[in-house]
Amino acid sequence: MRMYDIIAKKRDGHQLTRQELEFAVNGFVGGSVPDYQMSALLMAIYLKGMTEQETAELTDIMAHSGDMVDLSAIQGIKADKHSTGGVGDKTTLVITPIVAACGVKIAKMSGRGLGHTGGTVDKMESVPGTRTALEPEEFFRQVNDIGISVIGQSGNLAPADKKMYALRDVTATVSSIPLIASSIMSKKLAAGSDCILLDVKTGNGAFMKTLDDSIALAQAMVSIGWHNGRKVAALITDMDTPLGHNIGNSLEVMESVQVLKGNGPEDLTQVCYQLAANMLHLAGKGTVEECLSMAKQAVESGAAMEKLRQMFQAQGGDVRVLDDPNQFEKAAYEYAVTAPETGYITQMDTEQVGISSVLLGAGRITKEDSIDYAAGIVLHKKTGDWVEKGECIATFYAQSQDKFQPAEELFCSALSFGQEKPVLPPLVMARITKDGVERF
Ligand code: URA
Repeated sequence: MRMYDIIAKKRDGHQLTRQELEFAVNGFVGGSVPDYQMSALLMAIYLKGMTEQETAELTDIMAHSGDMVDLSAIQGIKADKHSTGGVGDKTTLVITPIVAACGVKIAKMSGRGLGHTGGTVDKMESVPGTRTALEPEEFFRQVNDIGISVIGQSGNLAPADKKMYALRDVTATVSSIPLIASSIMSKKLAAGSDCILLDVKTGNGAFMKTLDDSIALAQAMVSIGWHNGRKVAALITDMDTPLGHNIGNSLEVMESVQVLKGNGPEDLTQVCYQLAANMLHLAGKGTVEECLSMAKQAVESGAAMEKLRQMFQAQGGDVRVLDDPNQFEKAAYEYAVTAPETGYITQMDTEQVGISSVLLGAGRITKEDSIDYAAGIVLHKKTGDWVEKGECIATFYAQSQDKFQPAEELFCSALSFGQEKPVLPPLVMARITKDGVERF
């Protein structure tokens, strides 16, 4: 077999066999296929696409390029979720304890924040003492004992994806549905859970900006999952506005706790209930409606909050901050952002809002940057709200005052105002299962 022929075959729009995909991916990881040939193949895939079968096989090969986490030491059904990333997206911290409280095991690996989006591991580490790197035995024991553990990615998960992504990043081949889908799903398959719920964000703060693209990505990922023996479904959720009010690490933990205590913001609460219900449904706990009631009951009874507390306690976290947010380390300075004009907020450029929080210290631009857990934004007004000029619309938190002005400039330029109340999209726009697409 020659890489040249594989590239030419895809260039001419034909379907590659599993053996050909293995030759390319394994050769690239092993070093026998050089960057320039892999780049050419990636561009051919970008231009000609891939069939469902090809995409599923490519993903399986990428997943098997490194460790395949074996969760068989954990009894029962294991469920995972993945969000394509957004601003104020703290849903993992809310949903996973709900699902665990309903009897489905959560043995989850999460990521760190990069760019304008946050990451669960950083949020967890804002709770003092929390360990997010556990040895496998401790991880399995904790999940068997209390039903839940969320840790950082460990081991050598899908190294083919890491290497291919680095190449895609510099060859203008990132925005290809089969390549994005195989990249995300290779890591999810390798992480070992039986059921995977995907939260595909759509809108101006999301990786996918349009509903149609988000649905296409979700369909590709759902298909990959089922082809590879996992139960997968996806919800398309709105990211045209930040989720909830709080952006920043400890601020987001505080807001997650509010939802679990039954007094969180409406948008975040409703999205979390829908995601949790769909995860429970995938895990065989009943119809989506039955699972929705189960999820609400887990919050109302306090069982889900207790799960979150148990998880942090087991991982060394100081759970006093969960019960009393005043115990979190405070930012040195706060700053009130006021409305530059009177009217409805008709639009928020959510990506820019996310970058404003990064400028305050809440996120990182490069992987090496350190973050300030207390920094961030609390939004008092969001898209659809009426504001009076001079009214406080957000509070910024940072460790130094010089961060406020650039963050404020960006934040205010991200807002549009008008005299007509905008029509907001539904929070959950579609549900994608192996049976098809349901639009809401
Ligand atoms: N996230 C991933 O993990 N991979 C992609 O290709 C795009 C987003």
